Amino acid sequence: MKMIILAGGSGTRLHPLTKGTSKQLLPIFNKPMIYYPLSTAMLAGSREILIINTPYEQDCFKRLLGDGSQFGISITYAVQPKPEGLAQAFLIAEDCGFLQENEPCGLILGDNIFYCSNFREKLKFASREASWIVKNDKLDGRATIFGIEVKDPWRYGIVEIDKDKQAISIEEKPKEPKSNICVTGLYFYPHDILDKAKAVKPSARGELEITSINQMYLEEKRLSVELLARGDVWLDTGTFDSLSEASSFVEAIEKRSGKMICCPEEIGYLNGWLSEEQLNDIGISMSKNEYGQYILDLIK
Ligand code: DAU
Repeated sequence: MKMIILAGGSGTRLHPLTKGTSKQLLPIFNKPMIYYPLSTAMLAGSREILIINTPYEQDCFKRLLGDGSQFGISITYAVQPKPEGLAQAFLIAEDCGFLQENEPCGLILGDNIFYCSNFREKLKFASREASWIVKNDKLDGRATIFGIEVKDPWRYGIVEIDKDKQAISIEEKPKEPKSNICVTGLYFYPHDILDKAKAVKPSARGELEITSINQMYLEEKRLSVELLARGDVWLDTGTFDSLSEASSFVEAIEKRSGKMICCPEEIGYLNGWLSEEQLNDIGISMSKNEYGQYILDLIK
């Protein structure tokens, strides 16, 4: 399934760190932040990825990621002139020719980091649920959001579920949250996503909210909530503290396990999208550091 990575925004909460560069290019231990959502999209099986940036930061992303062939994928780029809301990503994707009418599509925010058990299976399931399903001669398919319990629910989109884990309500940054299950920045939508995105009206804060799209699927009883487990980790990186904690977390796990979290070259190779020879060339190009050595060790 096609996936969009939304990596725009003004990044003002992280000034001065983000005055000269994009937030999604800041390092999370040994990788640029965007490697993490990119890896999540690849784990979901997506090889066609659109990255949306601000107009003045796009060149840096192109320099880093190019056309994606070094990961065995195809990356295209589009700009979002102003941060007018997450739901705008789909309208931009249509305008630039990436997304057509009647096509399913996933979205992940460029600053969201996931480290979860059985994640690949969960992602593939969500992607299948959203994909072309024909029921009673009509295209169908369900949307999936990923929920996780948080301590500070008023900061996020919040979903309330019943005992069968069915969504009952969904609200953006509620003053009085009905649950503590946060909607993370990872979404899979079926073929009618463009119709839904076009129907979204700006919210009180003037944004095209992704929560409005989720609300529409909820009302049609076509919204699944994949609840992440207690030991699963979801990090957003919006503050100095959370940025530094994310780096420490990745460093601790990688050093302990000897396995990288969200190395797109490794995922491309394991998915069968990169040959040993290609991986070897990439490893050699970075062989003076531990990242390159790790890649070379994958083919020993
Ligand atoms: O992180 C999960 C949360 O993300 C969800 O729980 C909320 O439902 C969802 O609305 C969103 O909330 P935030 O208030 O955290 O979104 P924020 O405005 O911080 O944007 C998230 C990222 O997306 C950030 O890196 C900037 C980027 N962005 C944001 C907007 C509004 C864009 O690239 N373009 C935009 O128009």
